[in-house]
Amino acid sequence: MSNQIFIGDNLEVMSSHSFKKYHNKIKMIYIDPPYNTKSNKSYLDNYCSINWSDFIKDRLSLTKDLLKEDGVIFISIDDNELVNLKIICEEIFGKSNFIGIFITQQSQRSNAKHINTVHEYILCFAKNKSRVPPFKISRLLLTKDKSIINSLYTEIRPIINKQGIDIASKEISKIINKLCKENNISWLKNYNRIDVNGKIFFPMDLSTPNNPREINIPEINLKLDALKNRGWATDQKFIDLYKNNRLFFRNGRPYEKKYIEESYDNAPSVLNFFSRQGTNDLKKLGLSGLFDTPKPVDLVKFLILIATGENDYILDFFAGSGTTAQAVYEVNAENNRSNNYILIQKNEKINASNSVYKACKTYNINPDISDILIYRLNHYLSVNNKQKDYVISQH
Ligand SMILES: C[S@@+](CC[C@H](N)C(=O)[O-])C[C@H]1O[C@@H](n2cnc3c(N)ncnc32)[C@H](O)[C@@H]1O
Repeated sequence: MSNQIFIGDNLEVMSSHSFKKYHNKIKMIYIDPPYNTKSNKSYLDNYCSINWSDFIKDRLSLTKDLLKEDGVIFISIDDNELVNLKIICEEIFGKSNFIGIFITQQSQRSNAKHINTVHEYILCFAKNKSRVPPFKISRLLLTKDKSIINSLYTEIRPIINKQGIDIASKEISKIINKLCKENNISWLKNYNRIDVNGKIFFPMDLSTPNNPREINIPEINLKLDALKNRGWATDQKFIDLYKNNRLFFRNGRPYEKKYIEESYDNAPSVLNFFSRQGTNDLKKLGLSGLFDTPKPVDLVKFLILIATGENDYILDFFAGSGTTAQAVYEVNAENNRSNNYILIQKNEKINASNSVYKACKTYNINPDISDILIYRLNHYLSVNNKQKDYVISQH
């Protein structure tokens, strides 16, 4: 597997012979097409609505064959074409394969006359919804949950330090009840144990439905009587938990330690990503103003985390400045994964009246979006001391 960048019109590239090798291979598609806002952008964003519909329909029709059976597509869009886009997707993927719509914070203010619209959307469809596993995300990546976890530690740590773990273990339930009430949540309730290192966990029961049986594993010195109506997890599970210091006993009964830092939840439908984060991401790379509508890297990372595994292909056929590639690199580096990206971006000359044109001049880049894409990726790789690991095909 390797990363691929195709320079050319996405319709041509995706219908080409060389793209056939990706049929049924792609786990996730993310696209951020022109929204048809009719405003001045570095790329064409002014279609009549019928043209826009045809334009997007032609391209989306090709994606179904590309997706794996458990693959999904995410499409960023705003109010201009949301309804249209949903109808088109229902036609292509089928109503039953609609997974949902994320709402994402877009800006602080809009210029609209009546409603101060500050959000946009990400539409999600599956090739075959019944095959798609739940979208799970670490609570540490959810702003509110992360702050609740931090509050719990901030309150319990001084008690652990001054009065020890036994007293803190008694006090923790009170703090949890208070935080649950204040935040109107219940998931925190079970995280009421503290281990010798001061880490908070919830003891998960290790019994299983049916088939009562005794346990005798001399290797880890574990003997358990059979329960009345329930069985026990496998011997191997007990051995693994013991070796990883994950076994916890209460009244002689074993539990698995589930640390709060490792807790997951289903992806929420309302997300907190601001478009200016994308602009800041470019700034952080030292590439201020080099693109006008870059998506936040963290937004695409979030989608990759909920929808892909360790060895998947991720396609973005409206690549723009290449945010998706950076997101794939970062998720791989942070999670020890080997996902690969496939990007498609056409040559699109930037109008001299657009600020991105001036930025290109400053960085001495040919004012064309495909050149910005390559420049950003090379720059990202070089500041992170990574080797160039993509192949470019010109169409
Ligand atoms: C909204 S931008 C994508 C921005 C990108 N998500 C990012 O973070 O930088 C849409 C991009 O699609 C490109 N595009 C439009 N029509 C295309 C086509 N037919 N084939 C390939 N790329 C196209 C435009 O040049 C533009 O760069």
